[in-house]
Amino acid sequence: AHRFTSAAAAQSAAIKRVTVVGGGQMGAGIAQVSATFEHPVTLVDVSQEALDRGKQYMGKSLARVAKKKYPEDPKVAQEWVDAVLGRIEPTTNLAEGVRKADLVVEAIVENIGVKQRLFGDIAAGAPEQSVLASNTSSLPIGRIAEQLNGTRRQNMVGLHFFNPVPQMKLVEVVKANETSEDTVARALEFVKSIGKAPAVCKDTPGFIVNRLLLPYMMEAIRLLERDVAEARDIDTAMKLGAGYPMGPFELCDYVGLDTIKFIVDGWYKDGEGLQGNNLFAASKKLDELVAAGHLGVKSGRGFYDYSKK
Ligand code: NAI
Repeated sequence: AHRFTSAAAAQSAAIKRVTVVGGGQMGAGIAQVSATFEHPVTLVDVSQEALDRGKQYMGKSLARVAKKKYPEDPKVAQEWVDAVLGRIEPTTNLAEGVRKADLVVEAIVENIGVKQRLFGDIAAGAPEQSVLASNTSSLPIGRIAEQLNGTRRQNMVGLHFFNPVPQMKLVEVVKANETSEDTVARALEFVKSIGKAPAVCKDTPGFIVNRLLLPYMMEAIRLLERDVAEARDIDTAMKLGAGYPMGPFELCDYVGLDTIKFIVDGWYKDGEGLQGNNLFAASKKLDELVAAGHLGVKSGRGFYDYSKK
């Protein structure tokens, strides 16, 4: 039964049904957290294998939460996990998957052409008043939406989650030039409804967190290149001297050196207002590690060696 009957009322209706497109690391996390907070979720991916992997990942992650939530009662814990997973419907059919969505969150590959095409398909199938969101880290929301009609562009917003989604509290809510206040308000309400804290910002490269983190990481790498200190000492210094939970090299290895290179190279080349900015100039050290396949924790080696544990 629908709570709103007129289009005007539906315009600012609270977000209930969530469709997440892209069932990878981020998409599965967003689906999991939304379902944990009682939203009915549809998870769309082009690959059935990705959906299966996503379900496994969500199941494991939820099991850890359940163990803390119900330490005395494994049966109740399992029932809770099953109930949350039961609110997530996986599908490879996009048109069907977005048909009833109040909110569509896109978390597919970081490629402007692919995202623009996807949003064209989403717009063809999702209700006119639904909020359309991208989880992009480095692409302008305005550009992803540029081929959509006026209403769709007003309903488009950035919802930038952090990895790992179940643990990280922040969601950057990104306002493109044409994003309406109503859309921002609905996005903020959704973010709070899933137990996260929003930070609103304009549609600029890196938003808030990455715009400050990337220069910091690159400066740390340059200290290393200039032989000012060893990675271990720089990490110790920033953890104990600045109170950061991870040092810059631990953070680089965790994020992935290929990802860092991809972002800074992109900004240096054509980031709005960042083009040619020396903060994002290539680093020989970073380029060498990436070329050698040393991408950080995920490849077993980056600035540090993770192979023998
Ligand atoms: P991933 O590679 O783990 O997952 C992407 C998924 O999208 C794959 O399962 C793939 O099959 C699916 N996919 C690709 N094209 C599709 C299409 N046209 N329709 C439906 N599904 C499609 O990627 P990850 O790491 O989850 O990143 C996704 C997005 O989130 C990217 O835009 C990335 O920039 C952003 N992001 C990533 C963060 C991270 O730390 N990994 C942090 C914040 C944002």
